[in-house]
Amino acid sequence: MKFLTGFLLGGLALPALGLAFGFRGALPIAATSFPPEWESRLVGRAVTASLAREAEWLKNPLEVTDETLLAGLKRYRTGCAGCHGDLGHPSHWGARNFYPPAPQFAERPPALTAPQIFLAVKHGIRYSGMGGWDGEMPDEDIWRVASFLARLDSMPPRVADAWKTGAPK
Ligand code: HEC
Repeated sequence: MKFLTGFLLGGLALPALGLAFGFRGALPIAATSFPPEWESRLVGRAVTASLAREAEWLKNPLEVTDETLLAGLKRYRTGCAGCHGDLGHPSHWGARNFYPPAPQFAERPPALTAPQIFLAVKHGIRYSGMGGWDGEMPDEDIWRVASFLARLDSMPPRVADAWKTGAPK
């Protein structure tokens, strides 16, 4: 009996209350505020776990040469830096006006593998400002940008130079 009461309360009443709040317009929807620490951690873990599971059998089909990484860097600057920032130029829009904010990769490189980044970019992340690039960018280019981001904290010298000097545009 106790179990049943607990079940009904926890399993039905609380979600119903949440929905009632939402439908009455009582849930905040603005993107111009910062998520609390607990919420970022919880959602961040769920996103990382899902990417890790989905990417388990996926392999980067490209050979990761300087050319691959430079092409990825170029793609990053044209398609991603507007939200994720460039070295010495964080994106104010991305860092302040998205919920959750767009991570600034120059300050903190993504803790993800190339296949995980590939999936995040190709299919996007639900209920966030990260849209999917499927059909917008060829898979080869997504792999290039994913290879580049996965090596952001261990770039070969030529690529590190290009990252520092702002070339190629
Ligand atoms: C319009 C803004 C915007 C653009 C453009 C954009 N992103 Fe994002 N991206 C976001 C936001 C916001 C998040 C945070 C989503 C979350 O944490 O749930 C995100 C998350 C990510 C993540 C997951 C990071 C993590 O640690 O969980 C990766 C990887 C990523 N973006 C790569 C890219 C790449 C590569 C491009 C360019 C091809 C790109 N993004 C373009 C807004 C953007």
